[in-house]
Amino acid sequence: MTALPTADSRFRGNDTLSALDHEAQKIVAKYDEKRAAVLPLLHLAQDTIGYVTPEAMEWTAKWSEVPVVHVREVVTFYSMYHQKPVGKHHIRFCTGTSCVLRGCESQLNYLKKKLKIENGDVTPDGKFSLEEAECLCNCEGAPMMQVDKDYHVDLTEKKTDEILDGLK
Ligand code: FES
Repeated sequence: MTALPTADSRFRGNDTLSALDHEAQKIVAKYDEKRAAVLPLLHLAQDTIGYVTPEAMEWTAKWSEVPVVHVREVVTFYSMYHQKPVGKHHIRFCTGTSCVLRGCESQLNYLKKKLKIENGDVTPDGKFSLEEAECLCNCEGAPMMQVDKDYHVDLTEKKTDEILDGLK
């Protein structure tokens, strides 16, 4: 069996997408209607390539039999899809109302200072990227952030240090 390319490879060519065809076939087979596979196909492409390239949208359109313009609408609607390269670890920092009321601004400033980046940037070593996000639906844990697929709540400077320093 051929190993799938990883997100670290950041290879964006059609060869990478072709290597995912077998996986795409399995995903599409789970649904009565192929169009229902749009989201999981986009996740697969993004997890592999690192973000959703125009080629990945076309590949998704081909497998789901949905016009590419509709795939593009999905990608632009959901903030979970990246349209440009992100870091190895992508941080979504909540700046919603509850988080503001519980002091997210100073935590966000601390994070920016620690990583030496601003909203939308990637660190020069490619390890982290930062995106300010509206409510991430975990208000009881404000201030909070999402790092990759994990939520981290009740942030303090110490906790932020521990989270980021613990990531390879
Ligand atoms: S406002 Fe931050 S999680 Fe809801």
